[in-house]
Amino acid sequence: MAPIRNGRHLYLELPIGLPVPGKTTAYDNSRTIDLENVTLDGGILIKTLVFSIDPFIRGRMRAPNVNTHIPALQFGEPLSSYGVGKVLRSENSIFKPGDHVYGMIPCEEYIIARDTVRLTMIENKESLPWSVYVGVCGMPGQTAYYGWKEFSAAKEGEVAYVTAAAGPVGSTVVQLAKSDSCKVIASAGSDEKVAFVRSIGADVAFNYKTGDTNKTLEEEGPVNIYWDSVGGETLETALANSAVFGRFIECGMISQVSSVNTLYPIKNLWQVIAKQLKITGFICSSLHTKYSAEFYREIPRRVAEGEIKYLEDREYGLDKVGQALVDVLTGKNNGKKVIIVADD
Ligand SMILES: NC(=O)c1ccc[n+]([C@@H]2O[C@H](COP(=O)([O-])OP(=O)(O)OC[C@H]3O[C@@H](n4cnc5c(N)ncnc54)[C@H](OP(=O)(O)O)[C@@H]3O)[C@@H](O)[C@H]2O)c1
Repeated sequence: MAPIRNGRHLYLELPIGLPVPGKTTAYDNSRTIDLENVTLDGGILIKTLVFSIDPFIRGRMRAPNVNTHIPALQFGEPLSSYGVGKVLRSENSIFKPGDHVYGMIPCEEYIIARDTVRLTMIENKESLPWSVYVGVCGMPGQTAYYGWKEFSAAKEGEVAYVTAAAGPVGSTVVQLAKSDSCKVIASAGSDEKVAFVRSIGADVAFNYKTGDTNKTLEEEGPVNIYWDSVGGETLETALANSAVFGRFIECGMISQVSSVNTLYPIKNLWQVIAKQLKITGFICSSLHTKYSAEFYREIPRRVAEGEIKYLEDREYGLDKVGQALVDVLTGKNNGKKVIIVADD
């Protein structure tokens, strides 16, 4: 078989504010790969089926000397994120051709993985679409599940306020909170998203761009559990409307991620003392060992049975990655943003 195209999406330049497709990132189709003869050196050859567009990709676009929980992207190298792929060839005893794997992968159509430590085999006994494994059954769903189980201490009838509630993290949290018999207030950035959030059980759902967050929380709160994906002014409003002994689960601060202006200064942190709040920031991977087995036992089954619902926003082809990331960072996605790279 003759060599074929191996398209990839590269990280080129540090963005100021939002990434600029074609400038800070760009699609490159100049490379080819000989699938039958390429050297594996003990590794596996993977055909990428799905590439996930997550907010954290923007967080990795930073000066290499700024340390966080995840390394900075390298200029000139492919972007990387979670993905699902199919093993085409293997020189590794754990994986065989035809297996499906999930994990952090480079943004390329075909990958030679020599280090397979972070790749997980997916059995998919429920025959779900592979894309679900980067959404509700992948890292975003795990974030919701692990964070809710570990930090919510939810009690029947308590009020949970969930932000970015139509996305894969937020919509899973809404449904877990309902399973725990909470009253759920949920906010999202369009009427379409609000309708979805209502359809999955939120008791109060509103468009924070056209509605009044403070008034809604005053009327429907106080808030016992705040799921924060947003930060900034919304966090300040949640603090003002929190219940005594409230729990704040700090999952993300997307309103601050691409900000080129001064970050929003929270002015009422004294509420933490006055209301005796517990505020916990967390990173999904830190809780993986504790919860992953029960997550995979429970969530794919509940998704397959239709008990947990999800919304997916698909694009086709790795050339769409740059714009797809901008869409997620500006709320133009309608559900979990996935890039379908190839058929199974
Ligand atoms: N701690 C962890 O381990 C972990 C893991 C995964 C994700 N996260 C965080 O969880 C959050 C949700 O992730 P996701 O994958 O589910 O993303 P997502 O909901 O698919 O996409 C991000 C959403 O954030 C909202 N948004 C964007 N800019 C905003 C702004 N300025 N103010 C308010 N909302 C804004 C938009 O929804 P609207 O249209 O509704 O505004 C956008 O659709 C993110 O903050 C992410 O960084 C954390």
